[in-house]
This record gives sequence, structure tokens and C-alpha cells, in this order.
Amino acid sequence: MAVALASQLREGTQKSHTMAENTGFVSCFLKGVVDKLSYRTLVADLYFVYAAMEKAVDQHRSNPVLAPIAFEQLNRRGALERDLAYYFGADWRQQIRQTPACAAYVARIEELSATAPELLVGHHYTRYLGDLSGGQILSTIASRAMNLTDGQGLAFYRFEAIDDEKAFKTTYRAALDALPVDQAMADRIVAEANEAFHLNMLMFQELEGNLVAAIGKVLFGFLTRRQRQGSTEAVAAA
Ligand code: HEM
Repeated sequence: MAVALASQLREGTQKSHTMAENTGFVSCFLKGVVDKLSYRTLVADLYFVYAAMEKAVDQHRSNPVLAPIAFEQLNRRGALERDLAYYFGADWRQQIRQTPACAAYVARIEELSATAPELLVGHHYTRYLGDLSGGQILSTIASRAMNLTDGQGLAFYRFEAIDDEKAFKTTYRAALDALPVDQAMADRIVAEANEAFHLNMLMFQELEGNLVAAIGKVLFGFLTRRQRQGSTEAVAAA
């Protein structure tokens, strides 16, 4: 019997959503504080995550719980490849590595694919419905913060095969509600969606370290320049 999975997911992950919004990296990003090095690491992390998720969903295309939400229009791997070529250059494949938090996230997706593919619904929901919800705002912020022109490096946020993201979210939620899952499975999917939020947060926290280091470097440069200026002024005044 079908259950109201879409609203169970929304309500059951509300706390996690607030926590994710409040991680240092995400709240800095919202304020327009983004450095290109941290951002390109995020793009690389997301590439590994989506490549694993889209491979898993593809492998289980005939699974009755996954098939109804396996909308190809959502796929992000190709867009992330274009963004990686922009940030790292043509040899991006040789340059990118999974960070530890990214590797843990990918490992969880692969484990579920091998042992409990139905739970991938929680991961699918957490990433794609989030991307459909915040894409436009985040794209504008990233573009301004990093002085990107002509939409370069922002392919991730553009769903070229979807005309109306809001309408698509309604279609996606209806598909969630029609999935053939009982309440026990719904509970496990909501728990896994919370795990997906947690894995995302660990990735953001890792980036937060890089961002703090980048800000620290700029601040240190600024302070030492001022100090040098100050001592030159002091010498000149003497
Ligand atoms: C930058 C901080 C964020 C802001 C300001 C934000 C904002 C929003 C807003 C306003 C919605 C509601 C859209 C609607 O009702 O149509 C939404 C939905 C959603 N967001 Fe976020 N979000 C943020 C970060 C995240 C992150 C980091 C994730 C997960 C990795 C995420 C996952 C989701 C999901 C799954 C939904 C769909 C909720 C539902 O309707 O079931 N969000 N977000």
C-alpha cells in the first residue's frame, strides 16, 4: 500500500535541512563568501557523488521502487563534467580526487546499491529536490561571488531538460507518493534521507576548513601589508 512519502520526507528531514543551511560553508556561500578553490573542490565532490548515484539508479532501473523516480532529466553528471572542465581545465580527470567525506558518501551509495537499493530513494530525494529548489538562487550567488561570466562554470544549476522546475517538483512528489512502499520501508527511507543530509554536511564541514584557511591567508596578507605600511610611515615620520 502506498504511503504519503513526499510529506513524510519533507517533515522527517526538516531538522536536518535547518542544520545543513547553518553549516559554516553553506551560510558563507549564501552571504556570497565563496573562494574558487573551495568551490571547485565542492564541484569535484559532487561529481563523484552524482556519478555514483546515477550509476546505481541506472543499474536498478527495473526496481519497482526506484524506477518511478529515475527521471533522466534530473541527471547532473554531464553538467558537472562541463563545470569541472571549466574550473580545472581539459585534464580535470587527472586532477580531481575524492576528499575523505566525499569517499564516505560515495561508499554509502555503493553499499546501498549492493544491499538495499530501495533506500537510494532517500539520497535521490535529498539531492535532486534540493537542487530543484535552490538552484536559481545559488547560481546567482556563485556567479556574483566568483565573477563568472556567460554562465560559465554554472551548468550544475541548469536543468536543460526541465522547463518548469516548480511543476517538475510536483511531478516528483506525486511519483514519491505512488511508490510501492509500506510504512516500515517509508521510515527507513526517511532515516536514509537524514543520513544523506548528514553526509552532505560532512562534505561542507571539510570545505569550511579550506574556506577558513583561504580567508585567513587573505587576512594575514592584509595585516602584514598594513604592518609594513605602518612601520614605513613611522620611519618616514621620524
Ligand atoms: C543554502 C542553504 C539552503 C537554503 C536557503 C535552502 C532553501 C530551501 C527552500 C526555500 C526550500 C523549499 C522549496 C519549496 O518548498 O518548494 C528547500 C527545499 C529543499 N531543500 Fe534546501 N536549502 C538549502 C540547502 C539545502 C541543502 C544543503 C540540501 C541538501 C543537501 C537541501 C535539500 C532540500 C530538499 C531535499 C528540499 C525539498 C523539501 C521538500 O519539499 O520535501 N537544501 N530548500
